[in-house]
Amino acid sequence: MRTLLVIGIGTGNPEHMTVQAINALNRADIVLIPRKGEGKEALADLRREICRRYLANAGTRLVAFDLPERDEAEPSYARRVADWHAAIARTYRDLIARHTGEGGTVALLVWGDPSLYDSTLRILDRLEDMADFAFRREVIPGIASIQALAASHAMALNTVGGAVQLTTGRRLRQEGFPDNADSAVVLLDGETAFETLPQADYDIFWGAYLGAPDEITLAGPLHQVAGRIVEARLAARQRKGWIMDTYLLRRRR
Ligand SMILES: C[S@@+](CC[C@H](N)C(=O)[O-])C[C@H]1O[C@@H](n2cnc3c(N)ncnc32)[C@H](O)[C@@H]1O
Repeated sequence: MRTLLVIGIGTGNPEHMTVQAINALNRADIVLIPRKGEGKEALADLRREICRRYLANAGTRLVAFDLPERDEAEPSYARRVADWHAAIARTYRDLIARHTGEGGTVALLVWGDPSLYDSTLRILDRLEDMADFAFRREVIPGIASIQALAASHAMALNTVGGAVQLTTGRRLRQEGFPDNADSAVVLLDGETAFETLPQADYDIFWGAYLGAPDEITLAGPLHQVAGRIVEARLAARQRKGWIMDTYLLRRRR
């Protein structure tokens, strides 16, 4: 039986790696390093830097591979994602069969924590259905972007006894601020959905590249800082070619 280690690596700072994550990395026969295409080399570079710093097992090999791309021409969102996940599962199947034997151990390095807006565990469900080898999975938690956001703003995610909703930019834009929470953390927002809310009603705590040396944070009443966030986002994206940001919105009393 093979072992697949799904290791949370944190969100851009190699020091986010926990002792548990480092120990797991060193148990692996191979570490899969996805190449995500032009402009995203920084993400593969972080994984390589983590291995350079923490990998002490001379027997562990890094196996780089091109991550299949999503077919943006497919009109159905559900089908687009399903096809993409199936293609990644096939890639994992072939790599694992080629590079490990029965009893081998494979490390998959997952950005942040595997439980938060990440499909690796769902892809492993597909792999289970299609692979002709058996495997067990082990998950090692990592520091998620929402924890990095709270730490950088030195704040708690919730108010006393309050509910927090995790959501996406797309949902915030479509559905507005959730009725049943006084705080909402928004991920995967490519288009500054906070601009669609009544600006006087919320405070925002925003962060980009959290944990990385070029981290940017801004916070304050939405009506005062929204414009500065939009500008900072645009400038950062132009400078680096990509951006990863997240934010917490809180109802103002
Ligand atoms: C596909 S989700 C993956 C989340 C990841 N599993 C986690 O635990 O944070 C990607 C989204 O996470 C957020 N994110 C991830 N890393 C970030 C970082 N270093 N700074 C700010 N936001 C980040 C952004 O909202 C981004 O669009």
